[in-house]
Amino acid sequence: MLRDQTLAVLGAGNIGRALVGGLLRGGDLPAGQIRATRRSEDALDALRQHLPGVDVSTDNPAAVRGASVVLVTVKPQNVDALLDEIREHVAPGTLVLSTLAGVTTATLAQALGQDLPVVRAMPNTPALVDEGATAIAPGAHAGDAHVALAREVFLAVGGVVEEVPEHLMDAVTGLSGSGPAYVFMVIEALTDAGVKQGLPRAVSRRLSMQTVLGAARLAIETGEHPAILRDQVTTPGGTTITAVAELEKQGLRSMFIDTVAMATERSRQLGEG
Ligand SMILES: NC(=O)c1ccc[n+]([C@@H]2O[C@H](COP(=O)([O-])OP(=O)(O)OC[C@H]3O[C@@H](n4cnc5c(N)ncnc54)[C@H](OP(=O)(O)O)[C@@H]3O)[C@@H](O)[C@H]2O)c1
Repeated sequence: MLRDQTLAVLGAGNIGRALVGGLLRGGDLPAGQIRATRRSEDALDALRQHLPGVDVSTDNPAAVRGASVVLVTVKPQNVDALLDEIREHVAPGTLVLSTLAGVTTATLAQALGQDLPVVRAMPNTPALVDEGATAIAPGAHAGDAHVALAREVFLAVGGVVEEVPEHLMDAVTGLSGSGPAYVFMVIEALTDAGVKQGLPRAVSRRLSMQTVLGAARLAIETGEHPAILRDQVTTPGGTTITAVAELEKQGLRSMFIDTVAMATERSRQLGEG
């Protein structure tokens, strides 16, 4: 159980800080059982204010010593230096969680010089408002209990989907990791569309944002297939079917399929270095 663990979050930037914040808010883990690090001393005061009671420092080895779960949330370009710092201090059996895009569980275990249980996770930025979408992939030495702990950590900031095989993490990156940017573009485009029809911009943006949020919530809460929900609002000869036909003609579906394919391929390329 997560409550029995001591957690070290290395690189508490956007994602790391959001996760610790979520764990504290949800009462999943007492602050006294959490350590969080940053590289820059200047960032520590703000972090302390944000995460009251959490042991905040720039000392990665100290954070790792005695931690049963180590969550790595630095950027991929900073991971080698970080692993060099902590290699000697990670106890056997420590669960290593990583949100690093493109860095495999095998690479992490090998870099730490032990057959450690490693679980990879790909969250997204809505984690900042507890609405993240996270997929997790266990490495070779991670068992069910490790996956359960990883789920508990990421449930603090949103939804966690079933675990996926590790080779699909590039697809997850291309879909939900990068996905918020696509939806922001959809909101922007809908806003412009409303403005073109004469709506004041603020009104149009508010309607667009709430429509995206409401449609997602309706799909989640009813559990209905999106096509059924769409059919329910598509009156014969009406406005919605007119719009749906135009979206099909403009290739909405194939545009998203190609978009996610390209982002997935880019994630693969970045992972190969
Ligand atoms: N943002 C996303 O949507 C998203 C989604 C999925 C996965 N990810 C992955 O999650 C990771 C974190 O992303 P992010 O957006 O949270 O990045 P971020 O805001 O830049 O946070 C990373 C933090 O790591 C700290 N850091 C770097 N080297 C360090 C070291 N040696 N010791 C301690 N702290 C160190 C940096 O601290 P200083 O600023 O003090 O240098 C920085 O605040 C990345 O690997 C990214 O690929 C991000």
